[in-house]
Amino acid sequence: MAEELNGLVIPQHVALILDGNGRWAKKRGLPRTAGHKKGCEAVENIVEVAARMGIRYLTVYGFSTENWKRPEEEVSTLMQLFRFYAKRLQKIAMANNVRVRMIGERSRFAPDLQKAIEGLETSTKDNTGLTFVIAVNYGGRDEITRAVRRMTQDAKNGIIEPSDITEETVASYLDTAGMPDPDLMIRTSGELRLSNYLLWQLAYAEFYVTDCLWPDFDREELENAIRAFNRRDRRFGGIKTNG
Ligand code: IPE
Ligand code: IPE
Ligand code: MG
Repeated sequence: MAEELNGLVIPQHVALILDGNGRWAKKRGLPRTAGHKKGCEAVENIVEVAARMGIRYLTVYGFSTENWKRPEEEVSTLMQLFRFYAKRLQKIAMANNVRVRMIGERSRFAPDLQKAIEGLETSTKDNTGLTFVIAVNYGGRDEITRAVRRMTQDAKNGIIEPSDITEETVASYLDTAGMPDPDLMIRTSGELRLSNYLLWQLAYAEFYVTDCLWPDFDREELENAIRAFNRRDRRFGGIKTNG
């Protein structure tokens, strides 16, 4: 699972629910969109921090399948921010040997945004450091539904045999195929729910919730989460596996 850094076990895969952009803005009497912009800057920063710490996979929840229900104006601002930050992320990824990958159902995005996503993935695919995974138009139930659809189609076409389907088969049909499951899931802004995030993959992740609002999340906050992770007894359904 791990490399040691200053005596701490660094989780291989950290999953993040970045929540609280709106509350951050409200506290300052600013529009919600100002919180989203500041939130994007916090994402840029944490990608570099995670890459330097030696985390292998960092998955962030950027936009859920349910977030389309937000006011049209907020959704369109978020799309504009994705456009802008996709370009910046390209530079940051190349400078930090980061490979970028998107999960979620991308056909709902504007064609230019889909192209930008593909460009990011293709141009960074040979980088060997951190894999930065962005979940956009992502929902765990939607991901599983799409996987079931493809799996049953393959069964119908004789490519797979229903009785041969294992947990590994199911995992290989998910958007996260080939990635290890998260060891640590962090949610900012204090909410104690999963909001349809990585339902299959988080089966045994340790959860860490902080009251810190996402735009304020920084290296120190990530280190606090990793320290807390190091104090946990990992169980995986059996008996204690560490310490
Ligand atoms: C998280 O912040 C960003 C997205 C979900 C896009 P929110 O926008 O959910 O902020 P709060 O929860 O309203 O504070
Ligand atoms: C979860 O945050 C989704 C993302 C961070 C993209 P939300 O703010 O949308 O979740 P709920 O509505 O509080 O469950
Ligand atoms: Mg929220």
